[in-house]
Amino acid sequence: MDFLQEIEPLKKTALVELRGAPDLAALEQARVNYLGSHGRFTALMKQLGTLPKEQKPGAGKTINAAKMELETALAERRSELELQTALPKEPTDFTLPGRRRPLGKLHPLTQVTEDIVRSFRKIGFAVADGPEVEDEYHCFDALNTPADHPARDTQDTFYLQNSESRIPNPESGSQLLAAPKSDDGGSTFNSQPLLLRTHTSSVQIRVMEKQPPPVRIIVPGRVYRRDNADATHNPTFQQVEGLYVDREVTVGDLKGTVEFVFKELMGPETRIRFRPHYFSYTEPSFEIDFSSSLTRKMGKEWLEIAGCGMVHPQVFENVGYDPEVWTGWAFGFGIERIAMIRYGINDIRLFYENDVRFLRQF
Ligand code: DAH
Repeated sequence: MDFLQEIEPLKKTALVELRGAPDLAALEQARVNYLGSHGRFTALMKQLGTLPKEQKPGAGKTINAAKMELETALAERRSELELQTALPKEPTDFTLPGRRRPLGKLHPLTQVTEDIVRSFRKIGFAVADGPEVEDEYHCFDALNTPADHPARDTQDTFYLQNSESRIPNPESGSQLLAAPKSDDGGSTFNSQPLLLRTHTSSVQIRVMEKQPPPVRIIVPGRVYRRDNADATHNPTFQQVEGLYVDREVTVGDLKGTVEFVFKELMGPETRIRFRPHYFSYTEPSFEIDFSSSLTRKMGKEWLEIAGCGMVHPQVFENVGYDPEVWTGWAFGFGIERIAMIRYGINDIRLFYENDVRFLRQF
C-alpha cells in the first residue's frame, strides 16, 4: 500500500519539473527521469503487480490518471518550447527594407548572340534555325563542297555511327531539291550519312529549300568540329550565319551590312576590310578583318573575324532558285571570337567550364 501514497507527491514534483523546464533539452531530461523506462514514475507503476488482486483495479486507475496528467503536461510544455524556439529572438521591424534575391545573369555568349541578333533585326533580318544533327548533303554537297574536300574528313567531323537520313530524290519529282543521284536508280530517297554540323551554313540550304526568294535571315547556332580543346579551339562552339537573297544584290550591300553590324558590336570607330579568299559556296569569297581600339589592345591593327561572299550560282541551282534572276550574299563568323575580343578573354574553354567566378564578371 505504501507506494500508492507516493503517487500524488511524485506526480506533483514531476509536474513542477515538466512545466518549469526552461528548454527542450531540460524537458527531455525530465521526461526520462519520470516517464522513461527507468524513470521514477515508471518504477511505481511496475509495483502495481505486487498488490493483492482486489486492490489492483483502483490503484491502476489512480496511476493511469496521474500518468495521463504527466503526459499532457509534457506535450503542452513541448509545444510551448517549440513555438518559442521558432520565433525570432528580436521583435520584427517591419520598416526594414526587404532582402533582395540575387539576380541571375545571361551567359556572356548569350549576351553577345542577343546583341548580334538585335543589330540584324534593325535592318530587317529574321532569325532562322536548323538541326545540329545534319546530313552530308546539307552540310557539304548542297553547299558545293566536293566529296574530297578536307572539311569532310572523318578526322575533322563527327559522324554518327550506323545512321542515315533519307532525303527525297528529285528524280522522282518530290520537290525542288537537287540531291545527289542515288545508286539504286529508281528509289524515291537518297540515303545520307549523319554528322554533327560543322557550320551553320547548312541552314542556308534548309531555309532556301523551304521558301522562295527573297531571303533575309541570320542563324545563330551551335556547331561541332573534331578539334582538341586549347585556348583558341573547342569541339563545340557557336556561329552566326547570314544570308541575303534578292534581285541585284551586290558586294557593296554585303560590305555595308557587315560594316553596320560590326560598328554596332565593336564600337563606332570600327573599320573593316575584305581580303580575297576561297569558300566553295561563294564566288567571289572574302575574309573579313576588322580594326578597332580592341584589336590595338591585343597588339594588332587587323584581326580576321569572318568569312563571306556572293552566293555561288551552283548553290542556287541546288535549291531550285534561278541564278539568272537571284543574287545574294552570305557570311559566317564565330561568336566566341567576338566575345573574346570584346571582353578581353584569352581562353575559349572558360565559356564552357561554368565557373561562377568567371561568369559573374559579365
Ligand atoms: N562556314 C564557314 C566556316 O565555318 C564560314 C562562312 C564563310 C560562312 C563564307 C559563309 C560564307 O556563309 O559565305 O568557316
